[in-house]
Amino acid sequence: MIYFDNAATTLQKPPCVVQAITAALCSMGNPGRGSHLTALDASRTVFGTRRALAELFHAESPDCIAFTANSTQALNTAIKGILSPGDHVVTTALEHNSVLRPLYEMESRGVELTILPADRQGRLHYKDFTAAIRGNTRAIVCTHGSNLTGNLVDIGRIGALARRRRLLFVVDASQTAGVFPIDVQMMQIDILCFTGHKSLLGPQGTGGLYVRPGVSVLPLITGGSGVQSFLHQHPSRMPTALEAGTLNAHGLAGLGAAVRYLLETGVDTIRERELALMRCFYEQVQRIPGIMVYGDFSPSQRCPIVALNVRDYDSGVVSDTLAARYGIATRPGAHCAPLMHQALGTVKQGAVRFSFCHYNTEEEIQTAVAALRELAKEE
Ligand code: ALA
Repeated sequence: MIYFDNAATTLQKPPCVVQAITAALCSMGNPGRGSHLTALDASRTVFGTRRALAELFHAESPDCIAFTANSTQALNTAIKGILSPGDHVVTTALEHNSVLRPLYEMESRGVELTILPADRQGRLHYKDFTAAIRGNTRAIVCTHGSNLTGNLVDIGRIGALARRRRLLFVVDASQTAGVFPIDVQMMQIDILCFTGHKSLLGPQGTGGLYVRPGVSVLPLITGGSGVQSFLHQHPSRMPTALEAGTLNAHGLAGLGAAVRYLLETGVDTIRERELALMRCFYEQVQRIPGIMVYGDFSPSQRCPIVALNVRDYDSGVVSDTLAARYGIATRPGAHCAPLMHQALGTVKQGAVRFSFCHYNTEEEIQTAVAALRELAKEE
């Protein structure tokens, strides 16, 4: 199979990730729940993953990183943990439902919501952020990169605005962590939400959030923490403040190995390879009559994603044909990004998304281009 669905989850993981999970399954106790060897082994492993992520994101300390099961849980924690009725929050039409649905839920509880529009190429206009800020604005919640078009957002620019106006800045890095450099201090990010199983190259069921020291986030769930068991309240110190119950330590062993692999290989090296594959694909498919490509390809930096449609064919039918006839895996449909589809005019048709990983090859790109040429010719 040719796997071009890396924006949904990366299929091929570095061998060290598989080895780390296998070793953890055979050796790890419960992290933070005892002082016998297997519990200590688990605690050290989890701390090692926090430390690697803190290094990758330039966090102040490993304690700024709390683990969740995925980005959705991290974003729910951030959004519900910082907003109160009467607050105003600014977000964008680029967002995934993991941002939009918690925000709509908060809106139904009395939070005011402004959603900044995107144009037909899925681009934001930065002056809209400044214009949207009100006296009661508490936060800006924004993706770093669209999961549908691959358009990148200049989060450093928005971070500077948010800090100047004393707003909290929450970033969804689901599509960018591991492929773009993220420096939370330089980019003035207050909360960074990430998932482990996409470009971070770890297993599913891992993710988390960075919280800047001094920023208070109410926990989404409370419960066993391994410390301060007689308190009625969940402990308030990070990272325990946002972690309740047994962590996915086996998965986090894999995520730690994956992040160390990224740090050793270099995010820049990986990104250059993925962007070269993406450009090679894009340059060819955008010239095929009957193929419509979405998004803005003029900036040199964008996520390694190409979303397209073939004539007026349903994106689900095209994706199924690519899989059944050519063995090519893509994602069709709405991609949990309803406002992005409204902006692109693809609500009915959806789009077929090709998303690349550094493990893909030029030969695979050529096979996909040839397949699309054939499909675009067919009546
Ligand atoms: N959010 C993931 C995607 O975009 C699953 O495909």
